[in-house]
Formats: sequence, structure tokens, C-alpha cells
Amino acid sequence: MKAGVQMGHNGNGKSGTHHITRSAWSGKMGFILAGAASAVGLGNLWRFPTLAAKYGGGMFIFTYFVLAFTFGISLLLLETALGRHTKLSVIGAYSKLNSRWKFVGVLAAAVPFIITPYYCIIGGWVTKYLCSYVAEGADAVAAEGFFTSFITDPAFTYVFMIVFMLLCIGVVALGVKNGIEKANMIMMPLLLVMAIGVAIFVLMQPGAVEGAAYYLIPDFSKFSPELVINALGQMFYSLSLAMGIMVTYGSYLDKKESLTQSVASIAGFDLLVSFLSGLMIVPAAFMALGLAEGGTMSAGPSLMFVTLPMVFEGMGGAATVIGIVFFVLVLFAAATSAISLIEACTSIIQDGTGWSRGKSLGLCAAFVIVAGCFINAGYNVLIWIEPLGPGTQLLDFFDFLSNSVMMPIVALLTCIFVGWIIKPKAIIDEVRASSKFSLAGPWTAMVKYIAPVLVVVILGWNIATQFGLL
Ligand code: TRP
Repeated sequence: MKAGVQMGHNGNGKSGTHHITRSAWSGKMGFILAGAASAVGLGNLWRFPTLAAKYGGGMFIFTYFVLAFTFGISLLLLETALGRHTKLSVIGAYSKLNSRWKFVGVLAAAVPFIITPYYCIIGGWVTKYLCSYVAEGADAVAAEGFFTSFITDPAFTYVFMIVFMLLCIGVVALGVKNGIEKANMIMMPLLLVMAIGVAIFVLMQPGAVEGAAYYLIPDFSKFSPELVINALGQMFYSLSLAMGIMVTYGSYLDKKESLTQSVASIAGFDLLVSFLSGLMIVPAAFMALGLAEGGTMSAGPSLMFVTLPMVFEGMGGAATVIGIVFFVLVLFAAATSAISLIEACTSIIQDGTGWSRGKSLGLCAAFVIVAGCFINAGYNVLIWIEPLGPGTQLLDFFDFLSNSVMMPIVALLTCIFVGWIIKPKAIIDEVRASSKFSLAGPWTAMVKYIAPVLVVVILGWNIATQFGLL
């Protein structure tokens, strides 16, 4: 139990926590890497490029940049400071400050439990693609119908999902310092190097420059409220906000480490990887689909699992190598995020039950595997369930529920809680315990007034577009 989160019976957050050894990062670097590891994930690699292509390239990047470094960073700071201030994970943190607001913590805590199972399903797809590139080569993966025949084949999808889950559970089992930190220390720098390498390689291909120009040069006529709302939603997802993760991670951070610098680094790392994945994917999609369709490329699965393998195949001799490098990169991004998610679930169970870390992880693992199998069944035996209308699967439903509904609600309640109930001073003092915070004034305005309004707009928009009201 060297590195375990030894909360013991203090999980309710009401009794003192001083005599308990809580697990901790070895330093600021461990914290920054962990925050970046949770932030950098599938959202950066497929959602960001798709949105950027749809909303006029540079214009979207610019808007996203501005939002991330004002709004995003404010909330990131709020969550990490809340965690460090209370030294508790998300449920305990809220109830310690005001027991009537415990429900917000419970709501936030529910989100990782919903996301983890389906995130691991996609992690399984990535694992499968990597194995196929290694075993069968680029031609096989690019063949017509490869993706569909894979995801509708029950046995294989379950196997790869479980392999991916066990990998991530294994890392969490090794503890915060020996498992998560070490894994991040290896995977995150490699991820960055590979992203730069693949981006350079793609840009050297004939025809890539046009795509890159589209991606980089802002088209101001594309600016619209819809663009801003999508950039906001993407920012929440990408920075893993309003999901109880950053509160938990903040609670493992030492009082002397600067919060302001740490959150700026996390947001910077996340933005850098998003930017680089756009630089590989947008030009690649332009090469595959041509100028007209490149800007409207389809989102998510078909982009990564159908279009890109086709582009890679067109690269001749290097195809298999580039496919392997690309999917190793995606696997690292997905795995580090899944590890964060499993860690968050485990620490929530542990704080709630007072069990040991090992036992809590065991329960978490059992839950994730069972729930993952259930959601995965939405692609085969339960394919007749179409929760959000024709053609949608269980995975789409849980993605919608967690990201489009629960996350904005949690974000809104969090801002109200800090801005109006416990008052911003508690958080500002926590930030000032370790660094200067000259922007405390604008930050307060953000949390009290601006953020709540923006979040309500996102929530209304998500629900309206999902149900065809807009
Ligand atoms: N930020 C991750 C991504 O960009 C996805 C994600 C959302 C996540 N919420 C999370 C990861 C919570 C870890 C923990 O793909």
C-alpha cells in the first residue's frame, strides 16, 4: 500500500484528515503529466480535427485557444484548488465544504463511471487496429468493410476491450507513484514525439499543403455562435472538466506546488496535442476526400478507423509503419485517459466505502468489465436498442448522457457552489498558498457570472440539437 490513497474511514470528509497518509504525486511534474494524460485522449485525436475542419480551420483553432486559456483554465484552477483545499476526492470535497451540496459531488462522481466503460470499448478498437497493422499490414486494414465486420463480430470486440481494460487496470493497481506516474512519464513524451513525427510525415505527402493551409488559415466568415458552442463543449471534454478527475488529482498535490503554473501547463499540453492531431488528420482527410469533402469529413469512428487507414495505404511502402506508429500514439492517448478514469472511479469507491485501495480497484474493475460488455452488446446482440434514434447505439447514448447533459450540469452547479455558496475567497486563498494570483478579480467574475451563463447555453444547445429542435 505504499502508494495507495489511504483514506480509510475518513471518506465522508467530515473528520480530520491529518493523520492519514494520502497518496501523493512525487512533485509538480507528476501532477502536470497526470493532468495532461487525462486531458490528452481520443477527444484530441479525433474530435478536435473534425471540429476544426468543419468550422473553418484556423478560425476554430483561434476560438478554442482563447476559450481554453480564459474559461477552461479558470475551471481547471477551480477544480484542482478545490481538491487540494479539502484533500478529498470529489464527493468528500463538496460535502466537507457544505453537506447540502454533496449531491453535486455525487453527480460529478457518476460521470467517470459512465465514461470509463465505453471509453475502453474504443480503446479496444484501437488495440485491435494496432494488432492488425502489425500482423496483417496496411492493405488488410484499409480493405473495404474491415471496420464494420470487426465491430459487429461479437467475440473479437469483447476480447480487445477486456485486454485494453486489463492493461489500464494493471497500471492503476501499481499505485499512483509507481503505476500512473511511471506510465505517464513514458507514454506522454513518446506520444508527443510520435505526433510531431506523423504530422511532419503527412505534411510531406503530395497534396497535403492545401489541407494544411485550410487548417491553419482562419476563415473569418466561418465564425458563428455554433462554432463557439462546439469549441466550448470540446474544451470541457478535452480538459476532463466537471468529471471529478481534476478535483481528485488536485487532492494529491502538495501545498507548495504552484497551481497556476500547473494548470497552464496542462492546458498548453492539451492544446498542443490537439493542434498536432489536426495537422496530421486534416491534410490526410483532404488527400483522401478532396477539397470539397475534406472540410465536412465525418466525425469519430469512420474518420479514424476507415478514412485514415485508406490514406495510409496510399502512402505505399511506409504505410504499415505509419499505421503502426499512428495507432501506438492513439493507444497511448486512450490508455492514459482510461487510466485516469479508472483511478478516479477507484478513489471514489475508496472514499465512499473506506475499503482498501486494492479492494476498491477490484470492484471498479468488475463494474467496468460488466458495464463495458453491456454497452458493447449495443453493437451486436442488443443492436436493436437505438436509444437516440435510428442508427444510434448504446455507446452514443452514454456519451451523450455524460458529456452533453451531466457535464454541463455539474459545471454549472460547481460554479454556483464556489461563486455563491462557499465564496471564491476560499479557492483564491488556496491558490495563493503556493503562487501569486494577480488575476483573482477576473477569475471571480468568470466563475460567478460568465461561466454559468456559457454553461447553460451549452446545455440548452446540446439538448436542442440532439432532439432536432434546432
Ligand atoms: N479528456 C479526454 C479526451 O480528450 C476524455 C475524457 C473526458 C476523460 N473526461 C475524462 C479522460 C475524464 C479522463 C478522465 O479524450
